[in-house]
Amino acid sequence: MLYHWLKPFLFSLDPETAHNLIIELAKLAPTLGSLSGIKPDPSLKINVGSSRWNFPIGLAAGLDKNAQALDFFTAQGFGAIECGTITLRPQDGNPRPRMFRYPSEESLRNAMGFPNEGLATILPRLRSYRGSTPIGANIGKNKETEARESIEELSILFESLIHDADYFVINVSSPNTPGLRALQEKSYLTELFTELNSKNQGKDLYLKIAPDLEEAKIIELARLTSDLGLTGIIATNTTIMPERGSGGLSGRILNEKSRTVQKLILREKLNIELISVGGITQPQDLFHLWSHGGKAAQIYTAYVFQGPAILKVFKKELNRFLEKQELTLNKFFELSLDERQYRLKDFL
Ligand SMILES: Cc1cc2nc3c(=O)[nH]c(=O)nc-3n(C[C@H](O)[C@H](O)[C@H](O)COP(=O)(O)O)c2cc1C
Repeated sequence: MLYHWLKPFLFSLDPETAHNLIIELAKLAPTLGSLSGIKPDPSLKINVGSSRWNFPIGLAAGLDKNAQALDFFTAQGFGAIECGTITLRPQDGNPRPRMFRYPSEESLRNAMGFPNEGLATILPRLRSYRGSTPIGANIGKNKETEARESIEELSILFESLIHDADYFVINVSSPNTPGLRALQEKSYLTELFTELNSKNQGKDLYLKIAPDLEEAKIIELARLTSDLGLTGIIATNTTIMPERGSGGLSGRILNEKSRTVQKLILREKLNIELISVGGITQPQDLFHLWSHGGKAAQIYTAYVFQGPAILKVFKKELNRFLEKQELTLNKFFELSLDERQYRLKDFL
């Protein structure tokens, strides 16, 4: 309700100014989060990797880049909160303006370039978090770091944060750091994850991929994720559309591309988690994902356009679905895929 009144004002501002204002508000008044959020519901808990999410939808990376408002987003009722992308050294990112809205398409374009306060500032915030929502640390290389040195850099980030996050995401898929997407190469990723695996202490480790990859490449990365013993893949990051300008697009405009990538990964039937992200705007998107074998999801752009009410909409429809099935969500995911598809048929 509050967001309903706030949105016209926020949308009259430059998108990044509006974003910073919301983060300031969320920092100052985390209790506002519970006023507009959803209450935990035991029937909606799901296991994702070795974490237990209270709700099947988490907050995607990039919204709370600096882990400043973890209590607020916990109170909103997100299943997990992914902060970052965090880099080793603080960096300013690309020049502003670098965030743009397409309201009629419920989409955003951003060319942020990982502005963030860096490891030393963000680490204490993660360390002092007392909530029970799983926290993901999305990590990436600094802009000027060469590929070769980036393995050491990511390894330092991973080791430094290992006790203060529940899962880790390696972001080699942002379109806004020159040359970053080229790191979605098998030889580089094998070297990187061999190094991270040797430092790991049982934490879940995900690879976040771009939606703009060839089909064969997506399958290669999915198999590699499995072969390297990672927890899974987060698909997808934003998509490039040069005709719209620099940066990457998110929101409804990305939905179709992300779905295609997710289906390709699920079709491989590998023993890995898939966290789906990209243009999820309504409960049917989640049901569609489940009908292809998916489970957990994340949102960013739809939360900007719909506000906290989006979580209520999802919760209501999920409750309606589960009541009809007389199941909890975890029980639903214990069913065979055929059985899940059968039970979803009236909800797609
Ligand atoms: C303004 C903005 C900043 C983002 N920053 C990051 C980031 O730092 N790291 C990252 O992995 N993804 C980042 N993302 C991508 C999102 O995490 C997500 O993958 C993408 O927006 C698709 O989801 P959506 O359609 O629900 O927004 C960003 C997205 C937006 C819109």
